[in-house]
Amino acid sequence: MAGEAGEDLDKGTIATAYARWAPVYDLVFGAVFDRGRQAAIVAAERLGGRILEVGVGTGISLPDYARTNRLVGVDLSEPMLRKAQERVAEHHLDNVEALAVMDAENLGLPDDAFDVVVAQYVITAVPHPERTLDEFARVLKPGGEIVLVNHIGAETGLRRAFEAWFAPVARRLGWRPEFPWVRLTDWVERTSGIELIERRPMPPLGHFSLIRFGKQKMPAVRALPGNVPAKA
Ligand SMILES: C[S@@+](CC[C@H](N)C(=O)[O-])C[C@H]1O[C@@H](n2cnc3c(N)ncnc32)[C@H](O)[C@@H]1O
Repeated sequence: MAGEAGEDLDKGTIATAYARWAPVYDLVFGAVFDRGRQAAIVAAERLGGRILEVGVGTGISLPDYARTNRLVGVDLSEPMLRKAQERVAEHHLDNVEALAVMDAENLGLPDDAFDVVVAQYVITAVPHPERTLDEFARVLKPGGEIVLVNHIGAETGLRRAFEAWFAPVARRLGWRPEFPWVRLTDWVERTSGIELIERRPMPPLGHFSLIRFGKQKMPAVRALPGNVPAKA
C-alpha cells in the first residue's frame, strides 16, 4: 500500500506560490484547465443541490454552474479568494452562499452538509491528500459525490521519467506532477462507505483525469417483525 507520504509540500510554500499566481492565474491557467473544469461541473450537476468547491481559487468556474445550485467556495489563499469575490460581485452570483479562507485538510464545516464536493486541480497540491479526502467524505451527504479533476502521474514511459525529474522544481510552484494513482485507490480501499465510480481521461492528451467517488446512502431502517411503530 502506498501510505501517506511525508510533507513534501507545506502550506507556507503553497500560500506563497498562490499569492504570486493570483494576479495572473486566469491568464495562465484559464484556458488550459477549462475542459476539465467543465467536465467536473457537468458531473457535479448530475446530482446538483448544495455544492462545495474546495480550492476554488479565483472562482473561475463559479459562473458556469447553473444558478439553481447553491455554492460554497473555500481556499487556503486569500489573494486567490479576493479574485473570486470580485468575480461573484461582477457576475451577480447570488447562488454563492459563502467564500471562505479554509484549509482543505481541516474544513470548518459540518458533517453531511453537501450533495457534491468538487476539487479541480487541488488534490495533488495539498500536503496530505488522504487527510483532505477524509474531510471531503465527512462533509458529503450520504448518496453524494466527490468530483475531482486532476493531473495524475504517468505509471510508465518517458512522461513518468519527466515527471520525476520535474518534481523538485514543481514543489516550489505548489505542484506534485508525479502523484501516483495508487494513493487514491488505496484511500478508497481503506475508507468505509466510499467507492470509486469512475476515472475518465481528459484532454489535452489524457494528461488529466476526471475522478468520481460516491458516498453510500444510509441503509434504510427496517422495522423488526413484531415491532410496532411509535405513534406521534
Ligand atoms: C491549481 S489551483 C486550482 C484553482 C481552481 N480550482 C481552478 O480550477 O483553476 C489550486 C488551488 O488550491 C488551493 N489550495 C492549495 N492547498 C490548499 C489547502 N490545503 N486548502 C485549501 N485550498 C488549497 C490553492 O490556493 C489554489 O487556489
